Amino acid sequence: MRIIYATDYRDMSRKAANIISAQVILKPDCVLGLATGDSPIGTYDQLAAWNQKGDCDFSQVSTYNLDEYVGLAPENPQSYHYFMRKNLFSRVNIDMANTYIPNGCNPDIEAACTEYDALVAAAGYPDLQLLGIGQNGHIGFNEPDVSFSKGTHCVELSASTLRANSRLFDGPDSVPRRALSVGVQTIMLARRILVIASGETKARAVYDMCFGPVTPACPASILQLHPNCTVIIDQDAASLCPKE
Ligand code: F6R
Repeated sequence: MRIIYATDYRDMSRKAANIISAQVILKPDCVLGLATGDSPIGTYDQLAAWNQKGDCDFSQVSTYNLDEYVGLAPENPQSYHYFMRKNLFSRVNIDMANTYIPNGCNPDIEAACTEYDALVAAAGYPDLQLLGIGQNGHIGFNEPDVSFSKGTHCVELSASTLRANSRLFDGPDSVPRRALSVGVQTIMLARRILVIASGETKARAVYDMCFGPVTPACPASILQLHPNCTVIIDQDAASLCPKE
């Protein structure tokens, strides 16, 4: 695990966008695994700016998102489909037919999960997987548990995640209780992983991810075992980490 220290959110975002842009330049038809949430917004802004300048061409890229709430239609502004269109897809020259997000509206949840796993496997798994980290150490919506998850599955969101995500809804009671999430095993199959974290609310989870024991109680800790994982953290998120 390689840790890169950034000064602040902006610096973290530019460094992350540089790595993603390099991936797209090196392999124009690469597969990117993408995340939603506050962490990647600055990274997507930067990638969109470079794309508009002609410096980062998404025309052959395909993307696979980590997760989606159960029951939210793609047009719902709180859905991750909507988030991705707003923050990245509508701002770059990607072919929307090459963008994939779990279908939280399929009434047959098991079929939705199996179909998504088949799609990610057929794509050969991401060349680069971008991840944020939850305050409780979750990646995707893989919450702390007694074992690591494998493929795409339906998750009951923890109280901590409902609380953290309620800022985007009208309070914790309106946050969907369930989400579909790619599993930890699938995340680990990406050839390269890039984790970004900013702010002191992430400091504990970042410490546990990088320096704690590898345990499903902190799902992100398994990334210590990935052969090519880069973590970019700003000063606040790094505040509990040993100084270099
Ligand atoms: C979202 C996702 C989540 C977020 C995490 C951090 O697709 O997979 O694991 O990365 O909840 O969220 P933010 O970035 O909003 O703090």
